[in-house]
Amino acid sequence: SAQSRLFIKGGRIVNDDQSFDADIYIEDGIIKQIGNNLVIPGGARTIEAKGKLVIPGGIDTHTHMQLPFMGTHAVDDFYSGTKAALAGGTTMIIDFVLDQKNVSLLEAYDKWRNWADSKVCCDYALHSCVTWWSPEVAKEMDILCKEKGINSFKMFLAYKDVFMLEDNELYEVFKRCRELGALGMVHAENGHLIAEKSSEMIQHGITGPEAHEMCRPEEVEAEATNRAITLANQANCPLYIVHVMSKSAAKVVTKARRQGKVVFGEPIAASLGTDGTHYWNKCWRHAAGHVMGPPLRPDPTTPGYLMDLLANNDLQVTGTDNCTFNADQKALGKDDFRKIPNGVNGVEDRMSVIWEKGVHTGKMDPCRFVAVTSTNAAKIFNIYPQKGRIAVGSDADIVVWNPNASRTISAKTHHQAVDFNIFEGMLCHGVAEYVMTNGHVVLDEGQVRVTQGMGRFIPLPCNSETVFSRIRERERTTKPCKVEREPYDGPVAKITATQMSEKMIVADNPIIPNNAEFHGRPMTSSGARNLQDSTFSLSGQQIDEKSPRRSTTRSLNPPGGKSSGLW
Ligand code: URP
Ligand code: ZN
Ligand code: ZN
Repeated sequence: SAQSRLFIKGGRIVNDDQSFDADIYIEDGIIKQIGNNLVIPGGARTIEAKGKLVIPGGIDTHTHMQLPFMGTHAVDDFYSGTKAALAGGTTMIIDFVLDQKNVSLLEAYDKWRNWADSKVCCDYALHSCVTWWSPEVAKEMDILCKEKGINSFKMFLAYKDVFMLEDNELYEVFKRCRELGALGMVHAENGHLIAEKSSEMIQHGITGPEAHEMCRPEEVEAEATNRAITLANQANCPLYIVHVMSKSAAKVVTKARRQGKVVFGEPIAASLGTDGTHYWNKCWRHAAGHVMGPPLRPDPTTPGYLMDLLANNDLQVTGTDNCTFNADQKALGKDDFRKIPNGVNGVEDRMSVIWEKGVHTGKMDPCRFVAVTSTNAAKIFNIYPQKGRIAVGSDADIVVWNPNASRTISAKTHHQAVDFNIFEGMLCHGVAEYVMTNGHVVLDEGQVRVTQGMGRFIPLPCNSETVFSRIRERERTTKPCKVEREPYDGPVAKITATQMSEKMIVADNPIIPNNAEFHGRPMTSSGARNLQDSTFSLSGQQIDEKSPRRSTTRSLNPPGGKSSGLW
């Protein structure tokens, strides 16, 4: 119909790899033509974009709309949250199905679909969280991947007794993800340590929001980031570190990528746009308004540092972790910081904050802005080029972006339901002027025009090429292979049962056999397994170190110069 025909005229199209001046013709939610002097059917509405950039709609990789959490639920639901997203130039969100431990992952998925389908104003997809481990969970992960449009699973190394997995469980989930062609995602903190240090804070009489940061300092985030990367690498599972909040954690991701590990890092609007000095603010509500996990960092140079890494592809994608709570909800923790519901806003302001701190500062160009706000997410989550690109055949999720306009962020004017904004007072150059989702103009000359449920669920297919092509190749090249040799027929030392404590001889420990005789080094004097016997290394070895050692290796370019012989 004529109503669904749009003509965007005179703008500069920006994709992640190039920008050029061209017009766009849209029909029935799809980009039909791009070029100059287009011949278009009559009756199309024309949007004048001269002097403006025409960019793919933003994709927020990390939201928690209406999440039931810490005794309450997030105040921005799938309606207000997606309406606000559109107002800021984000045309798709990826939310997390996150239910209690021991709840069926499929039941939880249905719950989230029911909540979202009737309310979303923009397209959305889902990640699923694995907060417990069993053969049933493994089966459900398979169904989620094959039938329900899930291609990513988030695991927590925080929230002990609530969502946290132990390392052995995490390793199992990573192996399952790799089998299914799904991406592993990790919330990297140390739940055991946080529990200990939180109690210490309370014992010291420190009950305010500053304790939230002090009991989980950035080295704890870095430790967990390193642990997750190591375990994922051992399982040959691609890994995505959600909400990278600190320099230390970002350095760990950067180093791992340079070692060739398949890992992606997601800073969020909050970590790029503000810092943790707010936890020391004299106003309790202000300080509590910034409480999230992992926390913002008190080092005020952190946001700039993360932006530098994002600009240079050490970090790749941006989300928000949008999970909002009003003052009365935050006040659940007024006497004990451990009870402050964790979460901040971001879904509406991410695009502006990244433009301001990234492009307006000269750290990144508009193409990189498009890459980190949209295209890289579309590629990683396997919906490219349907999303994340302005191209013929792609969804008409488009933003007409005015780089010369500015606005000041405030809770008084934002579209979110929450009563607080962590970016309050920030002047942002770069404003979304028109926003189109599936060819509907939903931000139109300052007015947001949406209807509940107009967005669609977008299934995310497994085996994203961006994520898995290297993984599959590694699977083939690093398959462990045994050494063929004559059986050993010499004498074998006898170890009697009494030499080992009863406790150590357990059938369910695969390293210690449940008979008294075994080949290997004897126990240590304290009765522990001799570590020299381990075949499983968490030392972060390179992928090619698994290949069998050969007595001679032919090399065309050996270290020290070319040789025609063997070395
Ligand atoms: O503080 C946060 N991040 N709240 C949402 C849950 C999560 O860990 O992502
Ligand atoms: Zn998290
Ligand atoms: Zn989150």
